Amino acid sequence: MKKSILVLACIILAGTVSILSCRKNKTEKSAFDKLYERVNDPQNHYFWEQFHAGNIENVKTVISKLEQQYQEDSTNLIATAHLGFARFWLLSEGMRGGISPEEIPGHVADARRFFEKAYQMNPNDKRVLGFLADAEMAHAGILQSQELQQQGYTRGLESINAWPEFNKFTIGISFAGAPVQSPLFQQALEWQWTTLEDCYTASVDRSNPAIQEFINRDLSGHNLGRKRACYNSWIAPHNIEGYFLNMGDMIVRTGDAATAKKIYALAKASPNYDSWAFKEVLEKRIQQAERNTTVFLDQTQQGIDNVIIASSGYNCSSCHKMSAADQDRFKNYNWVNYFKTRDIYSVNGLKN
Ligand code: HEC
Repeated sequence: MKKSILVLACIILAGTVSILSCRKNKTEKSAFDKLYERVNDPQNHYFWEQFHAGNIENVKTVISKLEQQYQEDSTNLIATAHLGFARFWLLSEGMRGGISPEEIPGHVADARRFFEKAYQMNPNDKRVLGFLADAEMAHAGILQSQELQQQGYTRGLESINAWPEFNKFTIGISFAGAPVQSPLFQQALEWQWTTLEDCYTASVDRSNPAIQEFINRDLSGHNLGRKRACYNSWIAPHNIEGYFLNMGDMIVRTGDAATAKKIYALAKASPNYDSWAFKEVLEKRIQQAERNTTVFLDQTQQGIDNVIIASSGYNCSSCHKMSAADQDRFKNYNWVNYFKTRDIYSVNGLKN
């Protein structure tokens, strides 16, 4: 109906200046289709297959396939953005895949460069803005640049403003290991609390955050728009669980084991908790919360049960990994179509 009115308008107004806008409309539509056609590229299939499997040992193959694609066509938005994401995966989890510390600065610089490009190509994707902000702050740490740190932080605030449900977490987790008394850590923890209000319910009682009923909803068939950052999906099959795992870890670091245990327990309200690969890790966290108030502050500790999830080598996996049961659940899922119908890249703006 809408389309036919548009065609009619184009015919009626043909010959006037509006012929331009009709033509523009046509190219815009094909740009959308062109982008989402690339979701089906074999390199993108490979990225998601390896990332969902948590195969960090293959991250360099992932990167080289994407780099080849990028060299063939530097306007490929998905390859460009994923060249940033794959670097962040490597930086977060590479320590368990044998990445040596000397490689880190180069990957941080590359992550920043590709997120910057991807954001320039598509400024509507505020997830990329959040990751760009994190990359700038990480690079600032390496270059010892106060100015870049400030620039990254300012961008981080801008990303939060644009999409709080996604970016309060994205920016906040980069400070999960900061000194507990520092303003950055305090701000980051506050963001984790207010995300619950942005996502689930306006009134969260911090001494008794019993919001299970808002979390335990299977909304996978819905088009949630910006609220998709609050639930599980094919992209992040255990987003809810990973979120509360990190938040609980941050609270443990403050010494408040009692509140941390209540936050950890919220992960169990996820409709997909049973198939989560990090279930045992979380349950151990609940048992050892008091112990961890000191262990998590000790920088010499190692192993997933002794360090916060953000520095464990499983940071991305805690939300994105698919267990065998998850793989099975999504066996016939048309995820290529999911990206397009939900406009995951926000080409037409972020839906409320
Ligand atoms: C708390 C859970 C959580 C953690 C931890 C997490 N993510 Fe995500 N990630 C999400 C959510 C939610 C989305 C948004 C899905 C959407 O747009 O619908 C997402 C989106 C993505 C995407 C999708 C980009 C695209 O093509 O659409 C990539 C890639 C990604 N994350 C990589 C990472 C990497 C790398 C890490 C680790 C550094 C990480 N994520 C950590 C929850 C998480």
